[in-house]
Amino acid sequence: MALRNIREIGDPVLNKTCKEVKEITDRTRELIEDMFDTMYEADGVGLAAPQVGILKRIVTIDVTGENPILLINPIILESSGEQTGNEGCLSVPGKTGVVTRPNYVKVKAYDENLEPFELEGTELLARAICHELEHLEGHLYVERVEGELMNTADLYEQEEE
Ligand code: NI
Repeated sequence: MALRNIREIGDPVLNKTCKEVKEITDRTRELIEDMFDTMYEADGVGLAAPQVGILKRIVTIDVTGENPILLINPIILESSGEQTGNEGCLSVPGKTGVVTRPNYVKVKAYDENLEPFELEGTELLARAICHELEHLEGHLYVERVEGELMNTADLYEQEEE
């Protein structure tokens, strides 16, 4: 198990467009394994390669803690509906903000053998897919936040009141 350093907002690597993965090398496999380890260790539901400083189109997601999903060169084929809710990002620690996303997405991606597959997601999975794919284009959710970016601690306080 190897943890990678999570890049934080302000790091220019988070604002760059990622390159397509054309072959799976030992280094790619190591990166994927490290991304899952890093995501789970940080209690995240998703991680994109630029968040660990690598400009490749690779995303890891697990919204339940029991269903690891790897998306290589993902593209959204369809999206529909709408959901509005709080979002956060491992690259923006301690913060949260309200973002509207599609409630359903269908994505095409490639697996660790570069075999294509399609995946459908709703609710949190749809949100995670949209959020992570934007990282590959160099965008962070904070650009989309409706209203103010809040401290996660304040949000919990509000909920308790
Ligand atoms: Ni993020």
